[in-house]
Amino acid sequence: MLVMKNLVSEQELLVQRNYSKKCEEILKNMFIDRQPVCYVHSYGCQGNVSDGEKIKGMLAKMGYGISDSAQGADLAIFNTCAIRENAQDRVFGNLGMLIHYKKSNPGMLIGLCGCMVQQEHVAKKIAKVFPGVNLIFGTHVIHKLPEFIYNILSEKRRICDIPDSDGVIVEGLPVVRESRIKASVPISFGCNNFCSYCIVPHVKGRERSRDFFSIYNEVKSLVDGGFKEIMLLGQNVNSYGNDLDGGVNFSYLLSKINDIDGDFRIRFMTSHPKDATAELIDTMASCGKICKHLHLPVQCGSDKILGLMNRKYNIEQYLKIVEYARKKIPNISLTSDIIVGFPGETYSDFKKTLNLIKSVKYSSLFMFIFSPRKGTAACSMSDPVASEEKVRWLRELIDCQNEISEEVHKSYVGRAQRVLFDGAFRADCGMITGRTDTNLVVNCKANGAKIGDFADVKIIRSSRMALEGELI
Ligand code: SAH
Ligand code: SF4
Ligand code: F3S
Repeated sequence: MLVMKNLVSEQELLVQRNYSKKCEEILKNMFIDRQPVCYVHSYGCQGNVSDGEKIKGMLAKMGYGISDSAQGADLAIFNTCAIRENAQDRVFGNLGMLIHYKKSNPGMLIGLCGCMVQQEHVAKKIAKVFPGVNLIFGTHVIHKLPEFIYNILSEKRRICDIPDSDGVIVEGLPVVRESRIKASVPISFGCNNFCSYCIVPHVKGRERSRDFFSIYNEVKSLVDGGFKEIMLLGQNVNSYGNDLDGGVNFSYLLSKINDIDGDFRIRFMTSHPKDATAELIDTMASCGKICKHLHLPVQCGSDKILGLMNRKYNIEQYLKIVEYARKKIPNISLTSDIIVGFPGETYSDFKKTLNLIKSVKYSSLFMFIFSPRKGTAACSMSDPVASEEKVRWLRELIDCQNEISEEVHKSYVGRAQRVLFDGAFRADCGMITGRTDTNLVVNCKANGAKIGDFADVKIIRSSRMALEGELI
């Protein structure tokens, strides 16, 4: 394998594996008649959930059982998100609950990690306000968890380790996956874009791509292990390879993964419009395993605001990609993210967003009100629009998108769709949930179909939220 400058060395990982073994011994002596259990909850994006799977993997190696409840757990870790203020508020609320559980179980350990604590001011506040928190660690030292746990167990002291870093890549950590059907595979970490509103580059470091063969081999072993959907992850997934020697880019990676034998699907997110090339669309069109869904966050319909956001494209360029994608892949489904009420946005800018979503006809949208993040450029921009006004704009946007989603969903009625059953099976009514290639939810009478099966389904009804189908 290529030696990459930010790759954590095998020697450092060996040190951590030794700590892990020592933790296992200590825990065996501490818990004589039962296995210790841990609870890990990840907030935020799928990249963070993927980090959470590695945290669980490391804890399982130390001998912890994994519980899906914080109550009664011997160790609880919140892997936090800082993307908007309400994401942080949620963590603070739930942390109060952990502290409450700790009162009846004083031996319980509480840990916090992730993007929220990577911000110095937040970590300091937590350390001060919540003396019950035993461990706080930043986004660049997740792999040192065995060492942290060892120090806490053996020295009974509080640990806070939040180094500033451009970021590392760690290969080969153990993983406990959330699903046995769908697997997330990060292909790059961090972000270089510095959109003016966004905290991610400040807390996750610079963009760095994983080695091509490490990704390829991981996907191959997941497919061989029976996974049916591979989700390739990156904050700017389609700039994969820009920092690598050897000429690999995202389209090349996709086409090589598409060539892996097996019955599986490929999804990816999040694509940045500035890197959504004709080559990417052509690759999607020609590779049968790549889902015909493109999440392409536009953020706003006004060029003036896109400039202030530092998004590096304008609406004309964005619409050109959309047009090309629709020409090459007529049934493609497009989704997006929108920020309402960015500093300096007027109602006339907002109207441009409404016009844009009416012309693109996204199948769904994630819609947010701008939330100022300390340390970002937008945080100090003048922001005169009152928050009640922004809420009204958001409401208008949601209403408009609801009509569009309903219309898009209606267009599926009568059509056959290949569905992967990846969701709940409800024994009471015999219904099972899946997703189309275009990422729409389908509810269906199971008639023997199981979670993890692919099936052809005829869509018979639709609503704003989902489709209803029957097995063909
Ligand atoms: N890397 C991805 C997603 C980043 S976070 C991308 O570039 O699209 C997911 C979404 O959260 C963003 O697309 C944006 O719409 C929203 N978001 C990010 N920072 C925000 C902020 N400060 N306030 C409101 N929404 C924000
Ligand atoms: Fe944030 Fe922009 Fe990077 Fe997405 S591309 S993570 S919005 S800075
Ligand atoms: Fe949140 Fe960090 Fe992801 S801020 S959205 S968890 S990269």
